[in-house]
Amino acid sequence: MRILFASSEAYGLVKTGGLADVSASLPAALRRRRQDARLVLPGYPEACRNLVDATPRPGPDGAPWQIIEGRLPGTRLPVYLIDWPEYFQRAGNPYSASNGMDWPDNAQRFAGFARAIVALARDEAGLDWAPELIHLNDWQTGLVPLLLDPERTGVERPRTVFTIHNLAYQGLFPASTVQDLNLPADLWHPEALEFHDQLSFMKAALIFADAITTVSPTYAREIQEPVHGMGLDGVLRARSADLHGILNGVDYSDWDPARDRHIAARYSAEDLAGKAANKAALQTRMGLETNPDIPLLGHVGRMVDQKGVDLLHAACTPLLEAGRIQLALVGSGQKDLEHATGALARAYPGQVGVHIGYDEPLAHQIEAGSDLFLMPSRFEPCGLNQLYSLRYGTPPVVHATGGLADTVVDATPENLEAGTATGFSFTPDSVAALGAALERALALYTARGDGHWEQLMHNGMARDFGWTASADAYLALYREQLPRRSRRAKAASAL
Ligand code: ADP
Ligand code: GLC
Repeated sequence: MRILFASSEAYGLVKTGGLADVSASLPAALRRRRQDARLVLPGYPEACRNLVDATPRPGPDGAPWQIIEGRLPGTRLPVYLIDWPEYFQRAGNPYSASNGMDWPDNAQRFAGFARAIVALARDEAGLDWAPELIHLNDWQTGLVPLLLDPERTGVERPRTVFTIHNLAYQGLFPASTVQDLNLPADLWHPEALEFHDQLSFMKAALIFADAITTVSPTYAREIQEPVHGMGLDGVLRARSADLHGILNGVDYSDWDPARDRHIAARYSAEDLAGKAANKAALQTRMGLETNPDIPLLGHVGRMVDQKGVDLLHAACTPLLEAGRIQLALVGSGQKDLEHATGALARAYPGQVGVHIGYDEPLAHQIEAGSDLFLMPSRFEPCGLNQLYSLRYGTPPVVHATGGLADTVVDATPENLEAGTATGFSFTPDSVAALGAALERALALYTARGDGHWEQLMHNGMARDFGWTASADAYLALYREQLPRRSRRAKAASAL
């Protein structure tokens, strides 16, 4: 099947979070299944620099953009970068300037990206290739299903699957943007583009896409309820039959302690000896006291309200005060959370090590060197770090929500007895509940040698969250979207 995978970031080209991991590894997994998957991304400077075998090609006649064709580093995955200098050739990250403020023309930038995707879908740039299906991701690609809507355009078009990676980011803009972007004025109502008097790119996708997915079964249920629906739960309930929860996979060629090139010593479930060396190396790097016995708790992530960093601070403070734990954190985001995290490190020198910023090798070193991994997210569509920590023998402590609930098995006495436990989960998302989970975790850690802790590590390391099952689920969903005629033709040609 010819699949165009459209995203605003992809690991290897440009990354701010888990969307990049998925956008690199899912299309690659589809290609391993002999599907003709290709990736399209905005041509940010960093993406242009990282693209392999970059070859410029003209865009459609008269278009203010051209295409840079190439491959994703380390793979054979074809990539098209939309090289639109006015919108994408600027320093900073894909969504915001270096001062952290969103680019003021984000509506124009990503509407432009959507129109370029539509041009590729119709092969207007003469690539001699047009997709049968477009897989769109998050609000940045949200206008594509509307722009391709056959009822408006009257032409055949590829099918569209839209994935919600995070409902908290909806692409909301002032009402006047509808005119600025030349969108159909008759769609300005709450059953289409309007969300409380604002234009919503996300809502447009939820209404016009052929199918909708999100990145875990639990999050698919949660977003149909007011608590996690972010005001779109009604729209999602109305499309319930077309909404599917498919868990993200992990790319174990990047995230496996047996072959990780970023860590001090490699190790595996069969030979865990290297884990202690990673702990010592992490303690040294983060300025912590080198002590093999004190429990070292790690955290990696965007510092935003979603991730519960404030809960982490509050629950860990008494444990730090009592000298019972060490903390190693890397992350960046909201200034208030960055400052509070820096203050914690200053208050507990030698016990708390913090790096504010984005540091890929350090993320690997924290996964490998910590004893426990903290993810007290208030909500978490899927979450990848807990999956990495399972593979690294670093049991996660998670709030039982979204993908965290779907992937971590709590170390209750029953689950320990049954040999299924992989970590610790708690609810509700309160300091007290996190504190209680930490006490359970520390008790089990302190009693290591009695077999339970070792079993927990081994159970987590043995779980397989690779892409096989998830890529198959996406492929099955894509096939359901194709028009019957072409499905029959496919079946006939397969005979
Ligand atoms: P989200 O997409 O909400 O940020 P995920 O858990 O799905 O959360 O994915 C986060 C990804 O980004 C992981 O690969 C994680 O290692 C990485 N990451 C986040 N913040 C940092 C950081 N400051 N330094 C290095 N890697 C980071
Ligand atoms: C989002 C979510 C995260 C998910 C990632 C990839 O950023 O916050 O939970 O793992 O997308 O799907």
